Amino acid sequence: MTESYHAINWNAVDDQIDKATWEKLTEQFWLDTRIPLSNDLDDWRGLDDTHKWVVGHVFGGLTLLDTLQSQDGMASLRKDTQTQHEMAVLNNIQFMESVHAKSYSSIFTTLNTPDEIDEIFNWSDTEEFLQNKALRIRDLYHDDNHPLKKKIANVFLETFLFYSGFFTPLYYLGHNKLANVAEIIKLILRDESVHGTYIGYKFQIGYNQLGENEQQDLKDWMFNFLYELYENEEKYTHLVYDQVGWTDEVLTFIRYNANKALMNLGQDPLFPDTADDVNPIVMNGISTTTANHDFFSQVGNGYLLGNVEAMQDGDYDI
Ligand SMILES: [Fe+2]
Ligand SMILES: [Fe+2]
Repeated sequence: MTESYHAINWNAVDDQIDKATWEKLTEQFWLDTRIPLSNDLDDWRGLDDTHKWVVGHVFGGLTLLDTLQSQDGMASLRKDTQTQHEMAVLNNIQFMESVHAKSYSSIFTTLNTPDEIDEIFNWSDTEEFLQNKALRIRDLYHDDNHPLKKKIANVFLETFLFYSGFFTPLYYLGHNKLANVAEIIKLILRDESVHGTYIGYKFQIGYNQLGENEQQDLKDWMFNFLYELYENEEKYTHLVYDQVGWTDEVLTFIRYNANKALMNLGQDPLFPDTADDVNPIVMNGISTTTANHDFFSQVGNGYLLGNVEAMQDGDYDI
């Protein structure tokens, strides 16, 4: 026999980070359908039309980016895996990206009318600056000649480009509004944080194998690319947030996250902004500690799926 197909063996793991990431991601598995979004309707009705517009359209933008991750992002990274366990982790990530993309639709169906939902999707499918970033990243995903650039694009999307949208629900969470919508976003954020760290780690393995000149070239490309994305992100942020006066705060927040993306890739920060510069209300919301929710009324960040115990005969004595 000259050819053979290899069964994945989880008892012989080449890279322990693959196993640890698999365990982390499966422990934090969640579904949008478990979050009682309709509890946010009172808060929603209290917002004026301008603020409602912002909420709806940042979620339209986020839907587009999570669609890109679920349809193109992971499929593109799968072509460059070094281990079978890495492939399994990417399978998990790909499915969760579909959960993320779907969960915005759960929010829309709770808060918006069918006409408003149509308008939001028309907007996200045509808005210039949103389309710019999606298409730029998509083109890199489809260029198989540069596996490390694909990973850079992925980490920039995961750890940087989502955050202009995440700002809004975190801001409302900090003001005790839209808590269940924010819970979904926090669950997404908790996933993206693992995704960005993991893909960044895999990037660094490849990067460290390059010669000094190749490293320098890639670094130059990476910083230019980040700056190019930032310039587009500035325009997107003005377009969405000027009407509510949050633009400067959002820009600080995205520069802070751009630095985190570089950190995931093993690079020095580009911008002077640190956590101390970000609106503390938003920083509070971003901390991914377990939300203190009553399990029967809300499923919080401390999603209980990992805590199930085995059934016993007595469980049937009702
Ligand atoms: Fe996602
Ligand atoms: Fe992700």
